[in-house]
Amino acid sequence: MFKFFLLSTLLLPTLVLPTLELSTLELPALELPTLRTLCYICIMNNILIENAKQILTCSPEGTRFKSGKAQSEIGLLENSSIYIENGKIKWVGKKLPADLLKKNVKKINAKNKVVMPGFIDSHTHLVFAGDRANEYAMRLAGKTYEEIANAGGGIVNTVDAVRKCSKEKLKELAKKRIDNFISFGVTTMEAKSGYGLDVKNEIKMLEVINELNDELPVDIIPAFLGAHAIPKDKTKEEYLDIILYEMIPQIAKRKLAFFIDVFCEMYYFSAEETDKIFKQAISFGLVPKLHTNQFYSIGGIETAIANKASSVDHLEVMKESEVQQLKDTGIVACVLPGVSYFLNIQYAPARRFIENDVPVAIATDFNPGSCMTENIQLLMSLAAHKMEMKPEEIINAVTINAAAALCISDRAGSIEVGKQGDVVIFDMPDYNNLLYHFGVNCVESVIKNGKVIN
Ligand code: NIG
Ligand code: FE
Repeated sequence: MFKFFLLSTLLLPTLVLPTLELSTLELPALELPTLRTLCYICIMNNILIENAKQILTCSPEGTRFKSGKAQSEIGLLENSSIYIENGKIKWVGKKLPADLLKKNVKKINAKNKVVMPGFIDSHTHLVFAGDRANEYAMRLAGKTYEEIANAGGGIVNTVDAVRKCSKEKLKELAKKRIDNFISFGVTTMEAKSGYGLDVKNEIKMLEVINELNDELPVDIIPAFLGAHAIPKDKTKEEYLDIILYEMIPQIAKRKLAFFIDVFCEMYYFSAEETDKIFKQAISFGLVPKLHTNQFYSIGGIETAIANKASSVDHLEVMKESEVQQLKDTGIVACVLPGVSYFLNIQYAPARRFIENDVPVAIATDFNPGSCMTENIQLLMSLAAHKMEMKPEEIINAVTINAAAALCISDRAGSIEVGKQGDVVIFDMPDYNNLLYHFGVNCVESVIKNGKVIN
């Protein structure tokens, strides 16, 4: 059972953090503390991270995200400390007042270290079986992603592997990947279905995601992506009916997903079909987000705006008018530089988004076809070199803006009193070293809800 929903029925409303959302978008906030957070409260996760050379708070100053010029404001504190009590940030500053300090506190010396919010990966295809290394070799030999997909490879190949795979095996495979994500500093991630493409296997994937969320220390937020491709044995019309009238009602009833996602792209799902799926899912309480403008511009941006999506993801092919349309909508532009690198396609126009006050998030899009890496730091490096994003903009893109993309910026994505104790400690004298020392993992510790998990 999806714990975020479970909580809303189990927990006292007074325990829910006050919402900080101030934008034009009125998105339902995920409710925390979670069941797991309550467990943590019982075992007292009190940590004092002392005397860090730099703390990057990434505070959005009472709003949901950082956009425009504010995307480069990092909230730098020097020679400061963070006190996390019962899994939540209780205090941030120079010297902890003696009366705040509890007895059973773990102290971490962060002298000459950099501390920032735990990274948030707002777009992953975490759960799958098999691999597509053969397709990768074909691409290196000159074939494109689209050519391989049109010749019967691509997403549907992974669908065959997922359908044959047991739930237990899918979980085991995903757990190893989650360990990798954590090692690179990720404390929260989104994970999609989309390799089942029938009722049984889409539900199987979402059950795996929900169980992983319950069992592991990181937060994993499930997205239903039944509309990822058309299964080989169905017509588009038949499959759309299954999505609309079987999958969405069943998934919503069992509260297996928070988000509804669609691959809005030529040869996959049109803007009109996306709109239909969104409207049905919204009526069942799901929140829309969208894969769009990866290869062609076919109306996904307008559809995302019309349905108040939380984020639009990919955006490699954007008309200037579409950049303008996103202005003032409160929708996060989630760019995926690893896909551009891996598929050798153009990069999303991150600078145009920032210049037009559109908040930018960066995510891995970890998946077997278009970006096979859990290393979010490598993608941050690509964003610097290939998208001309500044280090500060990049750090906000994987923390507070990614939190906004997942509707959790009221409780995660920045180091502020009252928020989850999710932080990463880097063994480096200043934050510029993070991009400078590329391809190497400089994470020293990862702390989730006040507990050291790496
Ligand atoms: O986000 N573009 C659609 N979906 C994935 C690729 C999935 C796959 O190739 O398996 C993406 O890039
Ligand atoms: Fe994706």
